[in-house]
Amino acid sequence: MLYSLLRPLLFRLNPETAHRVTLKAIGNAHRFKLLQGHPIDCKHRNIMGLDFPNPVGLAAGLDKNGEYVNALAAFGFGFIEIGTVTPRPQPGNQKPRLFRIPQANAMINRLGFNNYGADKLVENVKHMNYQGILGINIGKNFDTPVEKAAEDYLMCLRKVYYYASYIVVNISSPNTPNLRQLQNIEELDPLLGTLKLEQNKLADECGKYTPLVVKIAPDLETTQIISIATLLMKHKIDGVIATNSTFSRIGVEHLPHSSETGGLSGAPLTKHATTVIHQLHGVLQGAVPIIGVGGIMCATDAKEKMDAGASLVQVYTGLIYRGPKLVREAVQAISK
Ligand SMILES: Cc1cc2nc3c(=O)[nH]c(=O)nc-3n(C[C@H](O)[C@H](O)[C@H](O)COP(=O)(O)O)c2cc1C
Repeated sequence: MLYSLLRPLLFRLNPETAHRVTLKAIGNAHRFKLLQGHPIDCKHRNIMGLDFPNPVGLAAGLDKNGEYVNALAAFGFGFIEIGTVTPRPQPGNQKPRLFRIPQANAMINRLGFNNYGADKLVENVKHMNYQGILGINIGKNFDTPVEKAAEDYLMCLRKVYYYASYIVVNISSPNTPNLRQLQNIEELDPLLGTLKLEQNKLADECGKYTPLVVKIAPDLETTQIISIATLLMKHKIDGVIATNSTFSRIGVEHLPHSSETGGLSGAPLTKHATTVIHQLHGVLQGAVPIIGVGGIMCATDAKEKMDAGASLVQVYTGLIYRGPKLVREAVQAISK
């Protein structure tokens, strides 16, 4: 209700300012106890050995540095993912770099992993009193050559391992040059081998097993999806997130901003992301749980992701267009 009143005002601001202002307002409202969360009634689910109070989470990229987790938790998410974080801080791409396409309930972003770096994120996580499930999404710095990407992922993995409920290896952002190349089997096979080895080492050292999850793009051929799924099983990866934003402009070609470079998210991605989930599920058959994301704008979209084979779902752009009520609606539709 409140969000429907605020949205027209927020949409008058440029998208990145609106993002910053909204997060600050949510943070302050929480600090002054004006934002009281009401738990959403739902049966818990055990996925990847973690106890999820409900299956609807916040997708990566909204709170890149983990500054607003306590406040965002009040919206009733079953889990929250922060990041993408890189080993070193970086400013991201030049502004403007975030665009709304309201006629299509969509956004295009080319933020380029703007973040304060893994040390600052860990510092923020240490100071939060969030008791829920926290995913930490890791990436590589823009100036690390893709041949050395494994070193960046290892560095982040070591820094965040102890503090995360699960860790996401993001190889699918469209805004870091050549990053998506890591989805090629010849590069993904050794990368997953290296990260899995380190995960097992860290599990021994920390006395805690933190599940490792891989996030993939929607812009993959069916054969590539099948090969990736096979690799995930080979390396005993704990989960897969499908999908990131898309290079495609189908459905928005005629609209303002559609020619901006970056990843398209929101309603034009819904069906395509669901198809990727369905294809993954066809190979994985439950062996590796799928977290479904991409264009969940209403309860039905969330339900369709679950029906296609997802065990959990995440939202981002839907939250911008529909507000926090989307979380409860999605949880209730899935629980039915
Ligand atoms: C502004 C913006 C920033 C994003 N940043 C990240 C990011 O840092 N890491 C990541 O893995 N995904 C990022 N994403 C992708 C989302 O997590 C999600 O996978 C994608 O937007 C599809 O879901 P949606 O249609 O619900 O937004 C970002 C998306 C948006 C719109």
